Amino acid sequence: MQGIAVLDAGGQYCHLLARRVREAGVQSHVLPIDTPSDQLDGVNGIIISGGPRSVTEAGSPRVHPSILSMGVPILGICYGHQLLAATMPGGGVKPSYSREYGLAKLRYRADLKVGTTTRDGLMVGTTTRELFEGVPDNSQVWVSHGDSVEKLPDCFEVLAATDDCAVAAMVHPAKQIYGVQFHPEVTHSEHGQRILENFVRRVCRSGSDWRPSSADTIDAIKADIRARVGPSKKVLFFVSGGVDSSVAYKLCADALGEDRVHGVYVDTGFMRKNESADVMSAYEKAGFRNVRLRDASAEFLGAVGTETNPEIKRQRIGVAFLAVENDVLEHLPPGEWLLGQGTIYPDTIESGGTRESALIKTHHNRVPELLRRIEAGEVVEPLVQFYKDEVRQIGRALGLPARLIDKQPFPGPGLAVRFLCTDEPAEWSVNAKLSEVASPFKLAARVLPVRGVGVQGDERTYAHTALLTGDYDDAGIAELSPAITNSLRDVNRVVFWAGAKGSIEEFRVEPTTTSREGLDVLREADALVRDILAEYDTQNRIWQCPVVMLPLKRHGESTIAIRPVESHDGMTAQYARLPWAVIDRIATAVLAVPGVGALLYDVTNKPPATIEWE
Ligand code: XMP
Repeated sequence: MQGIAVLDAGGQYCHLLARRVREAGVQSHVLPIDTPSDQLDGVNGIIISGGPRSVTEAGSPRVHPSILSMGVPILGICYGHQLLAATMPGGGVKPSYSREYGLAKLRYRADLKVGTTTRDGLMVGTTTRELFEGVPDNSQVWVSHGDSVEKLPDCFEVLAATDDCAVAAMVHPAKQIYGVQFHPEVTHSEHGQRILENFVRRVCRSGSDWRPSSADTIDAIKADIRARVGPSKKVLFFVSGGVDSSVAYKLCADALGEDRVHGVYVDTGFMRKNESADVMSAYEKAGFRNVRLRDASAEFLGAVGTETNPEIKRQRIGVAFLAVENDVLEHLPPGEWLLGQGTIYPDTIESGGTRESALIKTHHNRVPELLRRIEAGEVVEPLVQFYKDEVRQIGRALGLPARLIDKQPFPGPGLAVRFLCTDEPAEWSVNAKLSEVASPFKLAARVLPVRGVGVQGDERTYAHTALLTGDYDDAGIAELSPAITNSLRDVNRVVFWAGAKGSIEEFRVEPTTTSREGLDVLREADALVRDILAEYDTQNRIWQCPVVMLPLKRHGESTIAIRPVESHDGMTAQYARLPWAVIDRIATAVLAVPGVGALLYDVTNKPPATIEWE
């Protein structure tokens, strides 16, 4: 195995680390945390990722001791950093029951004899040069941790500290084992990519060997498809209009010829307005001649039924999808067809590899029935080695239209995820602590009696939303929103009341389940928001804007929320700060849709809220 092994301690940033290494032109592989050294033969270096557990807890993930004496450089990040301190002789970690999130300044230790700072602030010390070369003192880093390293292991030296963390970076100079408490892989760490590049290039001495969209790589993928499918069999894809299935389809069509590749596009009924027609026309333009549409909206709506729990809704949609797939596959002549899938690298790791994740999601491409087919050699997955951004590069190199490659992300279960349901009616509540936090601002705050999914540290949360009312104060809201989520445990999201057909007291949470009529209202509102934002956001600053329907009602009309976010990869996000003129325009348009009673504007970053509100 060549390149860098990323050992997965269960952190949500593990794949981001592997991607960042690849962005530096170096191959990376995500592997279980306890992979022994004999399975890492040939790697240039090892990165140990962050994770949701505490190293002080019994049974928390551990590395295999053999990797520490392999003689290859190691970089531990967050949990990985603490794990090194807890594992290496002489080290120790201090547990903490609170967590520290957010930005910090990384200061090199002034008393560090081996490092000196030049006039332009760059470190030129002997030990530090490798990892922090070109990184100025006091650079911004992103932290998210509870425990900290209390005792340096033997032979380690402190490289840098932050205000709250005395050992923010450490090294064993002779063994080239590094640990950093912050997350260099997230873009909020301003020189994070430089630090990772320094590790893989300077410390590990890796060459440049990873070019996913080069002609050589694409030829190798096509040769692999031909070898797997053989001279006469055909391939059937379930295509979604998204980038992965489109690129996988195109690779197979180019490798085998158009006639041997067919596609079925399943309309689940949870699509956006005109989505299915647009996708079919994009396929036609891309030259995909053999794709047909199957309307399965009745089956999917029936499958979701009256379920209100968001995770169970997702599972039911997954099961309905498999039923449709099986129905199609059963009607094919046996032995003639293979199943094509646009599975990408993280999809394969999520189901098996990340045993340590706080929430294990079984990807729909890895359910038992499909695993059986994979084992029987009946499945072709040309993109299984690649990340989404790499798939996009391949798609561009293949000449696919931007319409199929640069789509805003849209969850597989579609609008069903954004249709919040509830079994029970609920009343507004006032929370003294919330009112106290909001009091310095000219905004009133109350608890919206609807729970939703969020993410804190590496764990999913299911908590309430705080609703702000009053005059729109962009700067005040930007300050108040994190203040609320930092001080109230049971709040993971903050929204602003942007407009309504009646007073707030007239709105009540009412029992609601997924319905075709409700979906039509949501579809209409979503299309209006999409058009207005497209006109406003000419620079494509907004990465994605889920439009969500809540069971908060007045005279039978529901509440719509908009969630515009700026992000690079969906892992972290900042809410997009919109001018009042735009919010007001959206409110006017959306409130004119019959069935909509109020508009909310989501003003939460990720973390603590997820991008989807479900
Ligand atoms: P969250 O809500 O976890 O979302 O912050 C991060 C990104 O993932 C997208 N997402 C999905 N994409 N199938 C997908 O293909 C899904 O089931 C799914 N769920 C969330 C979400 O839209 C955002 O871009």
